[in-house]
Amino acid sequence: MAYNLLKGKRGIIFGALDERSIAWKVAEKAHEEGATFTLTNAPIAMRMGEINKLAEKCGSEVIPADATSLEDLENLFTKSSEVLGGKIDFVLHSIGMSPNVRKKKQYGDLNYDWFLKTLDVSALSFHKVMQVAEKMDIMNDWGSILALSYIAAQRTFPDYGDMAQAKAVLESIARSYGYRFAKKNKVRVNTISQSPTMTTAGTGVGGFDVFFDYADKMSPLGNASAESCADYCVSLFSDLTRMVTMQNLLHDGGFSASGITDEIIEEMTKGK
Ligand SMILES: NC(=O)c1ccc[n+]([C@@H]2O[C@H](COP(=O)([O-])OP(=O)(O)OC[C@H]3O[C@@H](n4cnc5c(N)ncnc54)[C@H](O)[C@@H]3O)[C@@H](O)[C@H]2O)c1
Repeated sequence: MAYNLLKGKRGIIFGALDERSIAWKVAEKAHEEGATFTLTNAPIAMRMGEINKLAEKCGSEVIPADATSLEDLENLFTKSSEVLGGKIDFVLHSIGMSPNVRKKKQYGDLNYDWFLKTLDVSALSFHKVMQVAEKMDIMNDWGSILALSYIAAQRTFPDYGDMAQAKAVLESIARSYGYRFAKKNKVRVNTISQSPTMTTAGTGVGGFDVFFDYADKMSPLGNASAESCADYCVSLFSDLTRMVTMQNLLHDGGFSASGITDEIIEEMTKGK
């Protein structure tokens, strides 16, 4: 059910790779809620061509940008405000990639050039997006900027590798830039820490199936789906959450507050 929560709002959505992507679901919901927005992804991700289907469905223009390139970001913001007809109200940063995780490097055998790449793509790009937006003075007052994080920023999950550091940096950037943007023009900046979700980035983490089932059993409400994450993102882009800023918001079905659950006890006592 749609509520017109984003009627008249203009946005930029990073990171819709295919139908499973969290950003894909956010785009669909934002469209249902009346927003207009551009879609963007790294030029290399465009090759699959999937994003064009989403663009057609949402009446959006696709503007390629490598989120680590300041030049690409300047071009993206300039073109987006031209296409959408004004300043921007919301931005979704839904980007993550670690060459070390992709290539299954152990945490004690990391390639440091790749580590820097992980940080640049998955965390510094968030700073770059905001620095470019600030310098271009492209955000509307009371706008909302959001990135997606994971609880490995606070707790260790062995197969998550150097992405854990990237998420810790990402969440810290949200606090530091959130302060700055609040003072500048009341723009809020937050991260949503999402449950494990079956997407290309998610399933790239070693042992993801077990990881997913464990989190599902450890969460009283079960894992939060990509669709419910999209609902939460929409609420944070809407005017109903204007005073929420500089937060890491846990969207995890209760995982982070649970010590043990009946399902885990049942699992552990099987066969005893
Ligand atoms: N899937 C999960 O289990 C899970 C859980 C918590 C948080 N997250 C986070 O959600 C976000 C979205 O991931 P997803 O699960 O939807 O997977 P996804 O693979 O669909 O999305 C990741 C996106 O990052 C894009 N990307 C990579 N390098 C880029 C670059 N240089 N410039 C621009 N874009 C680039 C990819 O093309 C892709 O579209 C990520 O930040 C991820 O860490 C995912």
